[in-house]
Amino acid sequence: MTSIVILISGRGSNMEAIVRAAQNEAWPAQISAVISNRPDAAGLDFARSHGIPVASLDHRQFPNRAAFDAELVKLIDGYKPDLVVLAGFMRILTGEFVNHYEGRLLNIHPSLLPLFPGLATHEQALEAGVKEHGATVHFVTEALDHGPMVIQASVPVYPDDTADTLAHRVLKQEHIIYPRAVRWFIDNRISIDQNRVLISPPESQLLVSQDK
Ligand code: GAR
Repeated sequence: MTSIVILISGRGSNMEAIVRAAQNEAWPAQISAVISNRPDAAGLDFARSHGIPVASLDHRQFPNRAAFDAELVKLIDGYKPDLVVLAGFMRILTGEFVNHYEGRLLNIHPSLLPLFPGLATHEQALEAGVKEHGATVHFVTEALDHGPMVIQASVPVYPDDTADTLAHRVLKQEHIIYPRAVRWFIDNRISIDQNRVLISPPESQLLVSQDK
């Protein structure tokens, strides 16, 4: 059984998509805990109601990033995870944290990386005038919003899009690609060659949606 710990900061819809896929597809995995840096994160209620252990660690109670991350590692490691999944976990992580989970730390970012790292990705996409936008699941490395990419989903950008309509279109794809990437990890189908992630047997690592 692969042990998975999911970190969230808010709504937790990606966490929800992963939990639902794990249940519907009877993954040989256990969601050992959902942990939030915000005690009031809405996603914690969903996890609780699905019988998943939840914990929160309020980053505001710590003097600095290093102290918070060190305590977070202790909390996570109590659940002996094989995989740590960042699902809307809105914290910049220290090198110590990232290195501790090297090769078993996944993140989802709402853009076609390496385009638009950081925050407000949908606004960035609209401002740049791109005709295609999307989301990326990637392994986390020390460089913010970089690291070997597992799967991407692209969506069209329409002339009348707002950041909200675009975010909604992208989020629908996030809920497809994140569970898929986690499933690949559980099934031992992922290998990393330099910056490239290979899936064996091969399967498309790009989803192209024509959603309106
Ligand atoms: C998602 O769109 C995710 O890609 C993004 O936050 C949202 C969380 O939604 N993550 C980042 O921007 C990370 N830099 P959720 O809580 O409903 O999953």
